[in-house]
Amino acid sequence: MDNKIIIFDTTLRDGEQVPGCQLNTIEKIQVAQALEALGVDIIEAGFPISSPGDFNSVVEISKVITEPVICALTRAVKKDIEVAAEALQYAKKKRIHTGIGTSPLHIKYKIRTTPEEIIKRAADAVKYARKFVDDVEFYAEDAGRSENKYLAKVIEAVIKAGATVVNIPDTTGYCLPEEYGEKIRFLKENVPNINKAVISTHCHNDLGMATANTMMGVINGARQVEVTINGIGERAGNTSLEEVAMIIKSHHDLKLRTDINTKLIFSTSRLVSTLMSMPVQPNKAIVGRNAFAHSSGIHQDGVLKKRENYEIIDPVEVGIRESSIILTARSGRAALNHRLELLGFHLDKEGLDDFYNRFLILADKKKEINDEDIRILMGEVSQGESALKLEFLQVACGKSTIPVATVGIRINGEVHTSTASGNGPIDASFTAVKHLISKTVHLEEFLIQAITKGSDDLGKVHIQIEHQGKIYYGFGTNCDIITASVEVVGRVKSIKEKIKHYDTKNTI
Ligand code: KIV
Ligand code: ZN
Repeated sequence: MDNKIIIFDTTLRDGEQVPGCQLNTIEKIQVAQALEALGVDIIEAGFPISSPGDFNSVVEISKVITEPVICALTRAVKKDIEVAAEALQYAKKKRIHTGIGTSPLHIKYKIRTTPEEIIKRAADAVKYARKFVDDVEFYAEDAGRSENKYLAKVIEAVIKAGATVVNIPDTTGYCLPEEYGEKIRFLKENVPNINKAVISTHCHNDLGMATANTMMGVINGARQVEVTINGIGERAGNTSLEEVAMIIKSHHDLKLRTDINTKLIFSTSRLVSTLMSMPVQPNKAIVGRNAFAHSSGIHQDGVLKKRENYEIIDPVEVGIRESSIILTARSGRAALNHRLELLGFHLDKEGLDDFYNRFLILADKKKEINDEDIRILMGEVSQGESALKLEFLQVACGKSTIPVATVGIRINGEVHTSTASGNGPIDASFTAVKHLISKTVHLEEFLIQAITKGSDDLGKVHIQIEHQGKIYYGFGTNCDIITASVEVVGRVKSIKEKIKHYDTKNTI
């Protein structure tokens, strides 16, 4: 059996479905280009029938990507397949990914039909998709909870109808690794025409077993894995690309390989995290901030004596390198640009000039600018200007004092002030801003993170707000976290809209 594991990346489809992770077309192209450089084999670029935005992104990604196959998702519905084929018209290599639920639950309660009808619809969809493209992948949704003998019949029928890849998703992340591996082995051994198709894994992480299940699938015969950068995806996420790539690279005993250029893993991880405003948990395997940090004295001593004592992966292998050039307020554009290029950002002259000015403002406040600071500044640029111009902010707080904040913000050229108290300085500031903009804005989630280590570091604030039944997200950074907390409000889309049509009489 071939020892190459095909990497099918679904960051831009399953990953992008996550609330708050939505990207515009330009950002999706940026991610797709980073995935191409990383060496993925297939990019699932979207679900074209789902929205005009998704359709357009698949079209535009198809135009710029040359090496990886571009894949578009559909349901087992003719119209979906036609729209996917149209969206893929410019792709150099194209695939339609169609499918239907196969578990007793999905058949009875979601699709409300019979097992026989499912087989017919599945085969018909594959046959129809083959009229448009030669490469058709079929997914058996909720295969994890589907009965193996029935699943084998479905898979046999879709391969007969022309499927080139058969995807066995553990849609709900329910399977145990043994059970999932056994499912793949069962299909390998009991589907007569299985050698005409590649078996693919697609695992979700609801019980924290996505990577383990994927690996058991591969060990039992799957040759394609469906993964996302940083493991983002529906609910608890999908299998993470970096984990699978590094397991395969580290375990020579498996005798498997991928075409992933692992040295680009870290920069791709941070690009996706920044563009999607989705922080990477510090202890995330491979790409978390602490993945290669050693804090206990015994471990530090051990690593200094020989790195392998406590590290199974050399951080350089995943693209984490300490740069010898330290960026400060005295650094010039060339040094900054060099670092930006290393981090995967390519700016034209005008973009660099603008970014350099932002860099200098931060460098005046902070002695040294590290890679994380640069990524954050870059993320702010991609979010656009804050609609709120904070003119002044005065906060009184301390022990035995009720925190009070006075804010002065410029809205459409005019400065408005408001004072409010709260249970802390941030609550008081946020309430004061709310008084000026809209009392119907509700703060749903608020997260402050210190980015690296020092007390002069940037604080990064993520917020999620609810306004008229809709959820919006934004993030902002500043060395002063209270200022960051106020400015981030102005970055949220619904508030930007509100400020455009600002009317003091209606809001207060
Ligand atoms: O999890 C799942 O079943 C999916 C399919 C649409 C492939 O994402
Ligand atoms: Zn999925």
